[in-house]
Amino acid sequence: MKYLQIINRMTLEEKASLMSGKDFWQTQDIEHLGIHSIFLADGPHGIRKQAAAADHLGLNPSIPATCFPTAATVANSWNVELGEKVGQYLGEEAAAQKVNVLLGPGINMKRDPLCGRNFEYFSEDPYHAGKMAAGYIRGIQSHGVSACVKHFAVNNQEERRMSIDTIVDERTLREIYLTAFEIAIAEGEPMTVMSSYNQLNGTYTNENLHLMQEILREEWGFEGVVVTDWGGSNDRVAGLIAGNELEMPTTAGETNEDIITAVKSGQIKEEVLDRCVDRLLDLIFTTEEVYKNRNEKSFNVEKHHEAAQQAAEESIVLLKNEDRILPIKKGVKAAIIGDFASEARYQGAGSSIVNPTVRVNTLDSLEQFGIDSIGYEPGFERYGKKSRKKIDKACALAKKADVVLLYIGLDEATEAEGLDRSNMKLPENQIELIHALHETNPNIVAVLSCGSAIEMPWIDKVKGLVHGYLSGQAGAKAILRVLTGEINPSGKLAETYPLRYEDTPAFGSFPGKEVSVEYRESLFIGYRYYDTANVNVLFPFGYGLSYTTFEYSNIQADRDGVTFNITNTGTIAGMEIAQLYVGCRSGNIFRPNKELKGFTKVFLLAGETKTVRILFDDKAFRYFNVKTNRWEIEQADYAIMIGASSADIRLESTLFVEGTDAPLPYDKENIPSMYAGKVRDVTKEEFEYLLGRQVPVPTWDRTRPLGYNDTIAQCQYAKGWLARFAFHLITFAYWFLRKIGKRSTANLIMMSVYHMPFRGIARMTGGIVNMPMLDGLLLMVNGNFFKGMAHFLKERKKLIKAAKLRSLNNEGA
Ligand code: BGC
Repeated sequence: MKYLQIINRMTLEEKASLMSGKDFWQTQDIEHLGIHSIFLADGPHGIRKQAAAADHLGLNPSIPATCFPTAATVANSWNVELGEKVGQYLGEEAAAQKVNVLLGPGINMKRDPLCGRNFEYFSEDPYHAGKMAAGYIRGIQSHGVSACVKHFAVNNQEERRMSIDTIVDERTLREIYLTAFEIAIAEGEPMTVMSSYNQLNGTYTNENLHLMQEILREEWGFEGVVVTDWGGSNDRVAGLIAGNELEMPTTAGETNEDIITAVKSGQIKEEVLDRCVDRLLDLIFTTEEVYKNRNEKSFNVEKHHEAAQQAAEESIVLLKNEDRILPIKKGVKAAIIGDFASEARYQGAGSSIVNPTVRVNTLDSLEQFGIDSIGYEPGFERYGKKSRKKIDKACALAKKADVVLLYIGLDEATEAEGLDRSNMKLPENQIELIHALHETNPNIVAVLSCGSAIEMPWIDKVKGLVHGYLSGQAGAKAILRVLTGEINPSGKLAETYPLRYEDTPAFGSFPGKEVSVEYRESLFIGYRYYDTANVNVLFPFGYGLSYTTFEYSNIQADRDGVTFNITNTGTIAGMEIAQLYVGCRSGNIFRPNKELKGFTKVFLLAGETKTVRILFDDKAFRYFNVKTNRWEIEQADYAIMIGASSADIRLESTLFVEGTDAPLPYDKENIPSMYAGKVRDVTKEEFEYLLGRQVPVPTWDRTRPLGYNDTIAQCQYAKGWLARFAFHLITFAYWFLRKIGKRSTANLIMMSVYHMPFRGIARMTGGIVNMPMLDGLLLMVNGNFFKGMAHFLKERKKLIKAAKLRSLNNEGA
């Protein structure tokens, strides 16, 4: 151990005290040993350091910081160096604000387009997400602060995120849900990892020995600190045994007592605790090093704002350009329509929310880009209220224009942490506007602002479509530069846009509604499914247009990699993202048709040709064999494909690869749907075969009393009348708030009350309610009102008495 000398001087109580927060954002300090508190702050695309009131829901303001484009946006750049640059700026701002651990990047897989937090994540592909995240981490940590890759792992739905049990087979877990973490940790070397809220195959991730010990520590050799997600700790001792060093936020010492008791009783060896303390001390001492020589509390706001704009410029995706309507020609009269032009939508809701240093809107910037605007009309009400008048006014304006620039998107309350979207549609009032405008003036260029995939049944009503995603505080200008041709767009989608939500692989099994969620589609998420099952999509993974064109030629694959040429065949310079996909041709082990195994972004002048080489790495041919319980390579012919998107393969070659001689892991006849890639038809029997055990009952057992890990929503069938009444009150409040247009507040009720497990009441109130008091509450919930109330009051009294005693002792000391 590195800090044995200090650890030897610590009492058991002091060691335990380090294992949970001192308050909402800081760790405990022990001044006489020279151990200071460190500060942890969100988030993935800008610093959210709260100076006063603290919360993890994005409610209270934070110190101004640059709001960079969200991860879902920068993902479209497919530029790892750009990710690293964004990380460097984030790291610099974290250091300027004296933040030691920056809680990001988030790299959960986009299993389903409706996950409310997809805007915070990179991709539906683990290779892509892992590489981008590694870039961010390197950038952030180059300033001496720690990045914290999150949420480890299989946290793919927001609703019921603190209780849901994710049922996933080992191969899928490894190949899809853990590979991004594996790459990010190996190549980015983050000092911190955040465990997720959910359970994995029956155990909370922070207590899951297989995940935390066998995989993270033993296989991947991670030596940093694991922090729980805020309020995510369940059984603190089990969490510590699994190696989850730090619990956040504070529980006012309650869980420290659990640790002390566990050590005294021999449930935990003190040595295990010492190792956890050692790792935490390393994080503390390493990340405070930077502040020894640094007094600089500011950063160059202007420069960082420009960097945020550049990141957006490289991430914008041109999805449609009929009749070459873009870039907008000089002198063209443009009608600016759509509420998002007057107030840009540039980030999502929840803990990642940034208080931006500057805000740019389209309307204020038109002149600067020489756009000849003939006027602006909102055209629709942002939160969905219909207005014929607004549509009529917009059409009247559009009639007089050569081109309509139509700013549409999802509002701030739709894509939010803690909630999943209920559909993939744009609000009806925007769709009506699109149709009406099309009748009036078909020269429409739509500019889309949202952080996740949507359906576009209206796509043939617009000639141009520019997707800005959530492009950060400077995004509006970046989009204008693309519209006017100052920037040649070079982004490509890092997620598939299906035609309809009904086409998606997890349709019907997302989100898990009660106890668990079954990942029956296994490996086949995103393009892996559409491509293998031959399902038509609107825009495939990896798709994006440019104002120029590219040709691919001369592929040569060898043992180490693949070489090919790209030529810019147009008249202006541009950047092309070339993607390497690999597909095994043997058919012995079920696999997606093709999987991303490399990519590169190349800048080419008009007419220029470059030779590109992409090397194969250890992940290019591997699969996880559940019989040998390790990564293997199947001896077979592999298709080596170079594509401009996953559905646009330009070059192909075949390579024979020697294998590792492992036994075949499956009997084909037991899982026919898997071998056919038709994973929407996977039966319970097939899924159980994959899992190697029975699928647990996915529904609530309404006959047993409610406990710590049941959610407040389950009060609907509680024995206690008060609990049932509270349930109806909550649902009424939710309904009422939505009715009067207070959607964000309504959402808050769902996320912080309705889906909260009972234990959250103790874990998230900073010691105001403790577990024994919660026992009293649960007695009431389960129908023992008077007994429960008496217990609650008795425990409350004890708590107050203990607090008084502590403060007297402190005064005395
Ligand atoms: C989120 C984390 C975040 C934390 C602290 C949690 O609710 O899931 O991503 O870092 O809050 O704000």
